[in-house]
Amino acid sequence: MSTVIRETSLAGLPVSKGKVRDIYDLGDRLLLVSTDRISAFDWVLPTGIPDKGRVLTQIAAFWFQLLDEPNHLISTDVEEMDLPPGTDMELFAGRSTLCRKTEVVPIECVVRGYLAGSGWKEYQRSGTVCGVGLPAGLTECAQLPEPIFTPSTKAAEGHDENISFERMVEIVGRELSEELRRRSLRIFRRGAEHARERGIVVADTKFEFGRIGDELLLIDEVLTPDSSRFWPADQYAPGHGQPSFDKQFVRDWLSTTDWDKNSPPPPLPDEVVAKTRQKYVEAYQRLTDRKYN
Ligand SMILES: Nc1ncnc2c1ncn2[C@@H]1O[C@H](COP(=O)(O)OP(=O)(O)OP(=O)(O)O)[C@@H](O)[C@H]1O
Ligand SMILES: [Mg+2]
Repeated sequence: MSTVIRETSLAGLPVSKGKVRDIYDLGDRLLLVSTDRISAFDWVLPTGIPDKGRVLTQIAAFWFQLLDEPNHLISTDVEEMDLPPGTDMELFAGRSTLCRKTEVVPIECVVRGYLAGSGWKEYQRSGTVCGVGLPAGLTECAQLPEPIFTPSTKAAEGHDENISFERMVEIVGRELSEELRRRSLRIFRRGAEHARERGIVVADTKFEFGRIGDELLLIDEVLTPDSSRFWPADQYAPGHGQPSFDKQFVRDWLSTTDWDKNSPPPPLPDEVVAKTRQKYVEAYQRLTDRKYN
């Protein structure tokens, strides 16, 4: 097990921080560094999960290679990254992705194969998800007749807002919208099939795309536990919420505390950290058919 890395810095380089990743701007390239931070209920927890950043980076890199889809990846080998002299290479190794900087399409390309989260909420109100009509009588977490494309806007603050396909067309145009829908559904089908054969249900996921001139590239992270809902296939049963493949121990434990979800969360006990680390490693090993070491 390696040391927990919750913060990174690189001499003189501008950085922006997401909940989990530190993003360094290298001009026409970006360096995406996955830390071991973990979020739950929209809060970053004060305790990190050892190896989580490496596992997430390696899962995304695996998909970029498998999916055969034009994408932003240049390298995940720190030796090829020209990092500033004096950089602690050990710290960045395995958790860093050097990629081409694109003009990000301002839409989150969400694909859903199952009825969960905001999709389930909308369905109960209106029988639709992002305006897509669905059969009556579906229960919570039911598998959909086929995967559906349910875009949302990228909100700078707070929650992303689900939008209809027609609203997406107004924002980015019809041709691009159709292309993104086609590609998102294709990537989801391939990825979900691969994962299902290895005991993981991909309930839904979010893709991002970006442009460089005429090229439209898959960017950001792909089919990781942080961008997707992963469920253990052997426990799947519709009609109620599903355990999360990776974060369930964290969520369950937080629910046993008196934390109100409106104030900074408490630190995690060692046992919860160890079990959660094990689930991330397991997700990696199952998806990639490789041993994590
Ligand atoms: N190849 C790329 N070109 C340009 N921007 C990219 C590329 N790949 C990823 N990005 C952007 O980098 C950012 C990564 O941020 P990150 O996901 O870590 O945090 P966030 O989206 O701000 O917040 P959250 O932690 O809630 O996801 C996103 O805004 C994403 O759109
Ligand atoms: Mg993000």
